[in-house]
Amino acid sequence: MKIYRKDGDSLEILVFPHETIRKGEYLLVSDVGRDYSLVVQVIDIKYIDSPGILDELVREGLLDKSNFVETDLIEVGRASRFLKDTKLATAIIRGSIKDGVFSSVYSDLPSRAYSKIERVSTSEVLRLVDGGEFKYKIGLGIDFDGNPVSIYAEKLDGSLTLITGMKGSGKSHLAKLLAVNLVSHGAPILIFDLNGEYLGLVEASGVEVFDPGKNLYFSLEYLGRDTVLNLMVNVLGLPGVSANIFNEVWDVAVRRGYGLSFDGLINVVNNYVRNLMIRDALISRLLILKSCRFLRDGSSVGLEDLFRDYRGVIINLRGLSSVERRILVEIFLSKLVDLLERNLLDPLFIFAEEAHLYVRDTYWEDVITRMRHFGLFVVFITNQPDSLGHEVFRQLDNIFIFRFQNDHDLEMLSRIANVDSATVKSIAKDLVRGRVLVLGEVVNNIPSIIDVHRLPYAAMGVTKRVFGGGRLAFTK
Ligand SMILES: Nc1ncnc2c1ncn2[C@@H]1O[C@H](COP(=O)(O)OP(=O)(O)OP(=O)(O)O)[C@@H](O)[C@H]1O
Ligand SMILES: [Mg+2]
Repeated sequence: MKIYRKDGDSLEILVFPHETIRKGEYLLVSDVGRDYSLVVQVIDIKYIDSPGILDELVREGLLDKSNFVETDLIEVGRASRFLKDTKLATAIIRGSIKDGVFSSVYSDLPSRAYSKIERVSTSEVLRLVDGGEFKYKIGLGIDFDGNPVSIYAEKLDGSLTLITGMKGSGKSHLAKLLAVNLVSHGAPILIFDLNGEYLGLVEASGVEVFDPGKNLYFSLEYLGRDTVLNLMVNVLGLPGVSANIFNEVWDVAVRRGYGLSFDGLINVVNNYVRNLMIRDALISRLLILKSCRFLRDGSSVGLEDLFRDYRGVIINLRGLSSVERRILVEIFLSKLVDLLERNLLDPLFIFAEEAHLYVRDTYWEDVITRMRHFGLFVVFITNQPDSLGHEVFRQLDNIFIFRFQNDHDLEMLSRIANVDSATVKSIAKDLVRGRVLVLGEVVNNIPSIIDVHRLPYAAMGVTKRVFGGGRLAFTK
């Protein structure tokens, strides 16, 4: 390999026929004369475009088809074959190493005449970059050369993470791997399980599944006025004037002995609210809340107790109506912030699959900006990156990108701050299932391609199929 030229922050490198490199791999371009190297990552490979190559190829095609025998006395053919199979790799400069110390900037270029270019494994590059001392290791997978690559749970802590990629590319698989490892390190996590595919994680110790209406239910008293009002306004669209009246209704119910039950509140509305429209607005919403399978009068499960008893809490959203889903998630977010603010709960991670299906758009922005200060760190998992608002995108610290084919999605992703769009666009299309491009703090800003490990538990979240899965598989 030889340096051809530099263009912006990338080097163009000639790769000769006997050499092989792959997209996403790292190269070390070392100046033999002095102790200085550049760390570059290959993001594209193409054939060289030298004058006369086209003529040459056509001439060869013609010779193949005819009976001419080419006499090549001075080995011109061999030289031109060498030329034809020489490739040009575009490699982005990720940093430099001087006197054995890595730096993410570079101040000089190695010699073009005398540089030595060699492949270096991703795990080795990650080792070179000193990201500090950390304790809680998560074995993520292996690099191109089969070397194990780990990340540290501390780097996920306090941050906002996105796992994205097209359908079936391995997102949920990775989310499960991270969740299991975080739990094993003692970190509290909450998973909103949309399709019931995380239920297999109960095999890990300290993890429990909660089924709304069965072992998960709340009373009005436990939720408190603010949370109930949040639900009425944010999920059920109660207008502002009625919301004010609801505040008074709540007070009356408490003070005049109606009690904090759904029927108690409905009685107060019937007896005290004169305006018919407001009365209807309030009653219809109270009836919706009352009909939710996880809202009831009397006893309640306390969220603070869930996390005292378990590290991993999986909320099974499967089977809930879309309104119920929204109500339940809003209850969680609202109560969690309240508990975190009052220091009644330790900071925790939330895993949210396809969050746009159960939280309204603007809410996540509020969630991530406000809640991260209180200690609520979200891992978004989605195959539609544009379902997340710009505010969310802007604040992402870590991104795990699986295969994408759609240019629109790639365009969207490549606009995220701190990501060079060329890397994402070029690499994401070529990933196979289970292979991920990791960006951000978690890999010390060394974009890494990693084959994600298998899960420690079998059959966690296998998608149901007509053929090859269910009863059909056993009938012949
Ligand atoms: N690293 C891996 N090793 C082994 N199997 C994997 C790996 N990654 C994914 N799989 C398998 O591939 C299939 C699809 O993976 P997964 O369910 O994680 O995809 P997904 O991106 O979440 O898809 P969807 O968008 O449909 O939710 C699953 O059966 C999963 O077990
Ligand atoms: Mg999935």
